[in-house]
Amino acid sequence: MCDRALTAFAFALALVARAEKPQAAEFFESRIRPVLAANCYGCHNADKATSGLALDSKRGLDKGGKRGALFVAGDPGASLIVRAVERSGDLKMPPGGALPESAVRDLREWVNQGAVYPAAASATNSVID
Ligand code: HEC
Repeated sequence: MCDRALTAFAFALALVARAEKPQAAEFFESRIRPVLAANCYGCHNADKATSGLALDSKRGLDKGGKRGALFVAGDPGASLIVRAVERSGDLKMPPGGALPESAVRDLREWVNQGAVYPAAASATNSVID
């Protein structure tokens, strides 16, 4: 009985975990990418990676910049990208002025949720000619 309940619970958790992915992708596309595009891509993109940082690709986000990784596993609040937009240390991004509070909250939430970057469903990713 107890085992069956556990199995059902595990199954429900697995379903939740599967359902979360599209939600995370949707959150990124609607709340994160537009903020990065409007406020960050101008200086941090694949062609002009200021301070070694490109924010317009998964690879760029994974790599980080001259200072190293953007994300601190297990401590999202210590992540460089969050600290930069919260302007809590020496690094204050974007340099021209703070993001709206809601955008800062969204970025922090995105990092708290594991900074999911949706896989690009692009035909150019295909290995079939
Ligand atoms: C006008 C250009 C400009 C814009 C726009 C800009 N940045 Fe920057 N960014 C810089 C410069 C210049 C540095 C290097 C600053 C330094 O080393 O003191 C930097 C550095 C950084 C770093 C540290 C990289 C490293 O490892 O050295 C992060 C993180 C960062 N920016 C995040 C952002 C985010 C997030 C945004 C958008 C919200 C943004 N930046 C918008 C110019 C910009």
